[in-house]
Amino acid sequence: MTIAKLVTLRDLDLDGKTVLVRVDFNVPFRPGSTEISDDSRVRASLATIRFLADRRCKVILCSHVGRPKGRVVEELRVQPIAARLAEIIGRPVPIAPDCVGPGAAALVDSTPPGGLLMLENLRFHPGEEANDPGFAQALAALAQIYVNDAFGAAHRAHASTDGVARLLPAAAGFLMQREIDILGSVLNAPRRPLVAILGGAKVSDKIAALQNLVTRADKLLIGGGMGAAFLKANGMDVGASLVEDDRLDVAREIADDAARLDVQMLLPTDVVVTDAFAESASRRVTPADQIPPGWMIMDIGPQTAAAYVEAVRDAGAVIWNGPMGVSEWPPFAEGTNRLARALAALDHAVTVLGGGSTAEAVDALGLTDSMTHVSTGGGASLEFLEGRTLPGVAALMNIPSDYAA
Ligand code: 3PG
Repeated sequence: MTIAKLVTLRDLDLDGKTVLVRVDFNVPFRPGSTEISDDSRVRASLATIRFLADRRCKVILCSHVGRPKGRVVEELRVQPIAARLAEIIGRPVPIAPDCVGPGAAALVDSTPPGGLLMLENLRFHPGEEANDPGFAQALAALAQIYVNDAFGAAHRAHASTDGVARLLPAAAGFLMQREIDILGSVLNAPRRPLVAILGGAKVSDKIAALQNLVTRADKLLIGGGMGAAFLKANGMDVGASLVEDDRLDVAREIADDAARLDVQMLLPTDVVVTDAFAESASRRVTPADQIPPGWMIMDIGPQTAAAYVEAVRDAGAVIWNGPMGVSEWPPFAEGTNRLARALAALDHAVTVLGGGSTAEAVDALGLTDSMTHVSTGGGASLEFLEGRTLPGVAALMNIPSDYAA
């Protein structure tokens, strides 16, 4: 991805302006409640918000929350998030009951210089996800300048990430800039050796990232449920492990590319298996080529974990996306945890982790701050690793996006 034309906050004359700031405050809530279980996305945009408020801007925040599909869903209102932001930043964060229209405009008008206002959930309007020009225009009408700090939503070509950016002077916020800088440099000009670690459930989710990373990395470490596809593509019997048989050819192609490009590709040599997909199921460690019939892979085994830890020891840079096993269940988290601890202990390597379940696993160990960067984007960081120009970034550079809405 080229970042040459990315306009940043320091490039614009912001003093006293009304600024529409797209943030990704799509935070997780505790099941059945509106209690925020992880506010790191709110904290991640504080630098941008403070910078604007310190320049006496009216800071008009907008975000999506969940997937309400164009209608009002009470549980997905921004209220608890605005309240959390107010608590953290120590300033009032009033809410506009709608994100567009005369009511919102009146509240923008009455916001004092340096004041904050949070618009209601963008996705209560169908025009948001449809990237409807009229809806983008209505958002743009609220402000003089647009800032996008929502890296986590940058893979969406929506009105608030694409349409509006093309209607107002637009800049990347500090979080957006940091995500692009770090992910971009680890992909395009990494310290070597570059070790890419890919895990997660399904090979189909990671094909494009694997295809891109195999051309860039020096070592490729494979784990998670998708490891089974690579083992099966190598002719092994993976028992009852869920394998996408229509992806075995792609797995073979990636392994061939690795061999051709002299990339050291490591697959599990031993695995933790169970006789049912359940946290409490009977558990065994077995060589990867001796999985009993009816048993399934739930984690990499201890010998594999040791080999992967050894493989990252001399890394100049590490990119990690996807856990090594079903890490949300403690009996199958050991492979992920050992790798996380090994990365956290690296002194000289740049360690960059995708958001989503990788970030959750590392956070659960309290190791987030020991990594160089843990992305706030799940889908966005994965699509970035695929080498795509994300629409939210393309719009900031005023180049066309190749994504459909
Ligand atoms: C995320 O949580 O990954 C982002 O907020 C994007 O959400 P979405 O997948 O609903 O667009």
